[in-house]
Amino acid sequence: MYTTGFFIKRRQVSHCLITLLLALPLWGVGPDVLRAKSGIVTSRSMIASEVGISIMKRGGNAVDAAVATAFALAVTYPSAGNIGGGGFMLIRLADGTIAVNDHREIAPQKATRDMYLGADGEPVRDLSRSTHLAVGVPGSVAGLLDALEKYGNLSRAMVLEPAILLAREGFLLPDDIASQIKNRLADLSRFPAGRELFQKPDGSAYVAGDLFTQENLAKTLKRISQLGTAGFYEGLTAELLVAEMENHGGLITHEDLKNYRSIWREPILGTYRGYEIASMPPPSSGGVLLVMMLNMLEKFDLGGMGSGSPALIHHMVEAERRAYADRAQHLGDPDFYPVPIETLISKEYARFRFQDFQPGEASRSESIEAGQMPFESPETTHLSTMDAQGNAVALTTTLNGGYGARIVVEGAGFLLNNEMDDFSAKPNTMNMYQLIGREANSIAPGKRMLSSMTPTIISNKGEVVLVTGSPGGSTIITTVLQVVSNVIDHRMALSDAVAHPRFHHQWLPDSILVEKKGFSLDSIRALQKMGHRKPRVMSYARGLGDANSIMRVDDQLHGISDPRNAGGAAGY
Ligand code: DON
Repeated sequence: MYTTGFFIKRRQVSHCLITLLLALPLWGVGPDVLRAKSGIVTSRSMIASEVGISIMKRGGNAVDAAVATAFALAVTYPSAGNIGGGGFMLIRLADGTIAVNDHREIAPQKATRDMYLGADGEPVRDLSRSTHLAVGVPGSVAGLLDALEKYGNLSRAMVLEPAILLAREGFLLPDDIASQIKNRLADLSRFPAGRELFQKPDGSAYVAGDLFTQENLAKTLKRISQLGTAGFYEGLTAELLVAEMENHGGLITHEDLKNYRSIWREPILGTYRGYEIASMPPPSSGGVLLVMMLNMLEKFDLGGMGSGSPALIHHMVEAERRAYADRAQHLGDPDFYPVPIETLISKEYARFRFQDFQPGEASRSESIEAGQMPFESPETTHLSTMDAQGNAVALTTTLNGGYGARIVVEGAGFLLNNEMDDFSAKPNTMNMYQLIGREANSIAPGKRMLSSMTPTIISNKGEVVLVTGSPGGSTIITTVLQVVSNVIDHRMALSDAVAHPRFHHQWLPDSILVEKKGFSLDSIRALQKMGHRKPRVMSYARGLGDANSIMRVDDQLHGISDPRNAGGAAGY
């Protein structure tokens, strides 16, 4: 049994003063940073991070650790850790090889372009979010096992063992997970399998400190451990999943499962002030938009403007506005739609795109329809690993919304995603994250829905400097942009770069989202004076994103879990 009390966040004495006294490019350490020599894993669950480190200590590399942590997250962070969802893994090996595994969910063969439109021709939002029709064919198991086989050192059995144990023997529920489950209990209990998993036998809600066991999930994980992808996409697990679909009007068939493949893709590569950026290609929009925005911003002295200053926010917001407008039009699954990737990430295109930028004046997003800002809680999750050899992994994984479709597969004990909502159900209508899409992201059988996930690795002269990424739907890309800029432009220590207040703009709705207490009234007034609409202040304390990141500083590794959320960095 794993206890949570043991896994407290480590604090380190700030070395900021020393950093100030020394010339660039030192970043310093900062508070809350874990320092280690041989390896770090940072994720949204301290237990899962410890699992990753235990795997490294047993001879595993950064990939083994990332895979073990991801399977552990499916147990200890059920809101987003998953085997019933999908994700993207970016690997950079010590020899400079960069590999990208796309294990995004796909639309089932029976999916149709207008499947979420009601009689009035408008999207029926519940259908793509909370029903069995919302579920894309899961990709996580295929991707994690493919990555393990290609780049890992350890056996499947070793890497899956901690997750199986955590599910079978249980772990003590931390506060945040207990209250997440309690707050969503009615929704999670709509079907018997959800009730069985998330309610105590007497029907009451779990509280922090209760032992949480997941017997069916343990058995499913064991089948995966023994049989590999066949333990999920075929045999008993597949039968249980298909029965779940058939009993409740879902679309996924045995054929869909058997035909699912993860895809090794070419990374998005860019440069920013001499640093090498590697990030996620389509079907995520993350890497393309990140590089596009960095290209637009490169000619400006962001460091000189000061982090959080109105001038800096204005520059970034104008880059974000243009990049997200392009997202709506040009980005989708490249196997179904000709995404002009090379153009979008070129420096020439950025110059062209930003030529109408006015340093002191806001531009206006063309209004398609009034929108709400994305107040969804972050329910994707990102983990970063780095080992002693210099191998690094950035992995973002998701069920989409918190606890996905809130549907547990009867008998198999895992939650199903509601990733179909990331498609554009109808041109120019907004999804859960108020993102607009068009033809490029329309629904088609076998197609991958467009994502914003942005697992990113930054290097300098061939050495990894930063491993980062985040959940947050549409806000993922701007979160990563700010972490990267804080490190490169403002030379912040990792803890500061990650903790620094964040803002977000996504073209539509045309207003800046700012974290509560993150920005002074003066800054906000200055932005309004430039013509920006009144910023929206986030109404919940957790803020934007959850960027669990690792940075190399000289011969040390620094790791941090985003202070906005529970979670932890482990290392040795
Ligand atoms: O792939 C995507 O972009 C979304 N499904 C990610 C969802 C997410 O980050 C949830 N957090 N708010």
